[in-house]
Amino acid sequence: MSFIFLLAIVLSGALGLARATKVSTNGGQPIILDTDLFSDVDDVGALTIANVFHNCGLADLRGIAINSPSHYGALGASALCTYFDNEDIPIAAFRPLTNDTFFDSFFYLYGEYVSKLAYNWPRKVKESSLTPTPVELYRTILSSAEDESIHIISIGGLINLADLLKSEADHISHLSGFQLISAKVSELIVMGGQYPSGWEYNFGGIDPKSTAEVVNHWPKNVKITYSGNELGGNVFSGQNFAQRFSPDSPVLSAYQWYVGRGSTIRQSWDPITTLYGIVGLEWLSKLRLRPMLAYANAFGYNSFNAANGSNAWVNDTGVTNQHWLRLADGVTNYTMARLLDEIMTRDPSAGCCFQHEMSDDL
Ligand SMILES: *[C@@H]1O[C@H](CO)[C@@H](O)[C@H](O)[C@H]1NC(C)=O
Ligand SMILES: *[C@@H]1O[C@H](CO)[C@@H](O)[C@H](O)[C@H]1NC(C)=O
Ligand SMILES: *[C@@H]1O[C@H](CO)[C@@H](O)[C@H](O)[C@H]1NC(C)=O
Ligand SMILES: *[C@@H]1O[C@H](CO)[C@@H](O)[C@H](O)[C@H]1NC(C)=O
Repeated sequence: MSFIFLLAIVLSGALGLARATKVSTNGGQPIILDTDLFSDVDDVGALTIANVFHNCGLADLRGIAINSPSHYGALGASALCTYFDNEDIPIAAFRPLTNDTFFDSFFYLYGEYVSKLAYNWPRKVKESSLTPTPVELYRTILSSAEDESIHIISIGGLINLADLLKSEADHISHLSGFQLISAKVSELIVMGGQYPSGWEYNFGGIDPKSTAEVVNHWPKNVKITYSGNELGGNVFSGQNFAQRFSPDSPVLSAYQWYVGRGSTIRQSWDPITTLYGIVGLEWLSKLRLRPMLAYANAFGYNSFNAANGSNAWVNDTGVTNQHWLRLADGVTNYTMARLLDEIMTRDPSAGCCFQHEMSDDL
């Protein structure tokens, strides 16, 4: 059975709420996005949500750290931010840089997009070698942030965060990376792992040692929320992008180049993670809408085994600040996909209020 319900999302109302409770430069939730903008195109979806919410005052996108080595990553991120009029958001390229371009040697299907973004849209970052390193960027942003204010959203490998954790006092801050995180970060949101247990690429397929460093040794006072393979892997967003985006949109082209065969439909691992990382569980409920996401567990913690790249949830009633996400009761993958599409396809020049209709198959 299907019925239509009207979602009236009044972002300016949400902005007022956010301003009353948080201290930051534009009133939104301060975030740092750590992305492997290179292979899968859902990172483009995530950066789009971050930019749209930044422009609406729901997010305060303080910086972007690239965790894949291709020098095209930071350039592509700069082209996307520039498209959304956010060219001054600091971007850190991974080191050492490579000239790698994506080639799909697994499915022989998905296409390269990031160098094309870099060279066909204006961008502020001229060369990746001129950007700060990810650790420099993190340490700079964290050292000047309000205490317990920052959400770090990780949607790729965990090497930057492992390097930050291991970083020592320097000219940027007299605190170690561990101390900076402990003092300044209120939540780490990670796309990685499979829940309650299993193997997933971001955790097991890139740099398992770094995954172990972050998952097993993150400061215990800082909340962690995991978004697993099973959540975003069954939410297919990108419906009708060709009709909904302006033809000059780099987001549209990136999805078309990557997915191919005339389609823009793709799994939503990184967009869902970024949506939660910005607005949390409460946002849609605050606006008298149904909750869209929920925590799947009340207690326990994640553990990662670097030897086989697998994670497993440990049922420890003494730990209550680690969770993994699931769709809220009554929410289908279809409803979530439509919500993501609605956010991603907003006209960047439109005002902060928008309304839309969503159909839901319950
Ligand atoms: C990447 O290409 C540039 C230009 O051809 C070259 O100068 C540079 O050495 C290359 N970098 C690597 C790591 O191969
Ligand atoms: C929802 O999940 C079903 C079953 O896995 C899948 O066939 C369908 O494509 C998904 N739809 C969306 C919009 O994600
Ligand atoms: C990985 O190793 C752990 C510890 O030995 C084990 O419990 C788990 O089942 C293994 N996972 C896989 C997928 O092999
Ligand atoms: C943890 O608890 C859940 C639900 O109570 C249960 O399904 C699962 O088997 C438990 N896992 C372990 C490793 O005990």
